[in-house]
Amino acid sequence: MRLSGIALVTGGAGFVGSHIAAALIERGLRVRIIDDLSTGHRENLEEIGGDFDFIHASLLDEAALDRALEGVEIVFHQAAIPSVPRSVEKPHETHRACVEATFSLLEAARRRKVRRLIYAASSSAYGDQPTLPKSEEMRPDPLSPYAAAKLVGEYYCQVWTRTYGLETVALRYFNVFGPRQDPSSPYSGVISRFIAALMKGERPLIFGDGEQSRDFTYVENVVQANLKAAESPSAVGYVINVGNGCRVTLNQLLEALKKLTGRTDLEPEYHQPRPGDVRHSLADITRARQLLGYEPTVGLEEGLRRTIEWWKRSRYAR
Ligand code: UD1
Repeated sequence: MRLSGIALVTGGAGFVGSHIAAALIERGLRVRIIDDLSTGHRENLEEIGGDFDFIHASLLDEAALDRALEGVEIVFHQAAIPSVPRSVEKPHETHRACVEATFSLLEAARRRKVRRLIYAASSSAYGDQPTLPKSEEMRPDPLSPYAAAKLVGEYYCQVWTRTYGLETVALRYFNVFGPRQDPSSPYSGVISRFIAALMKGERPLIFGDGEQSRDFTYVENVVQANLKAAESPSAVGYVINVGNGCRVTLNQLLEALKKLTGRTDLEPEYHQPRPGDVRHSLADITRARQLLGYEPTVGLEEGLRRTIEWWKRSRYAR
């Protein structure tokens, strides 16, 4: 099935959403973005390039959401408050932004007869399942309000497919990183925070002993998975891991970044582990390969290089 018509990207002013929007525009689609700019930024919109419509509104604003969905064929649902520690501190806020917003979107999409919705799910759903790599058949075991909220969204998607025939695909992202990931909040993803610290000559903070591991996935691979999920005839109704398929510890990650930035002198400060933190994470990407023909094309080191280059040109460097 070829992508055509109008695509709506929720959270399109955010990190992953802005990359998806850019890729869709490049493919000649008409793109609309809805974002309340709570965690997204106008500067990300400026980096997208090309033409798109922007609606500055929350998904909880029913009238704005209905307007955003007019004539839409496919939705890429990226809007969320994507942080484990922030969800631990403010669970209600996460519930509204992840659960209630997804529910409202599914309902509005059903009314507007949208064909397909691709949902940004999270690897946090697996929690501390001891087996690695984590495959979609495993029982979810959320450890934080964020993980639970993202999981509820997945279930809603599956049910809207089964009950109402809205085609949904849930992509479980594994620790996405890359250009435009905001490093400026204490809740920001670890790669963006490490790069910002090193580039400013500050000591990076490590929560715990640094031996926890993650499957860091460069954003371009996640965009590829989304485009493929939009077109795949066999992915509907499935939950699919989107990762790089290899993991590194935070200590190893920091060593690599120190070399790439030339800041081998900066030693980390170790702090208490974060509540809700998962110990190890690694994706089994067999299903993504089978159902989507997904293959990561940008590995960790190349992704880190590109992210550092972007950071140097970004407003965060000034
Ligand atoms: C989790 C999810 C991920 C989701 C993300 C949303 C898992 C395995 N992954 O990421 O799919 O997209 O939430 O935010 O659950 N850390 C430091 N120093 C820092 C910042 C973080 O040591 O300055 C540590 C954290 O304690 C954690 C690791 O780095 O152990 C990664 O943290 P982060 O980048 O915030 O992502 P996750 O919470 O793993």
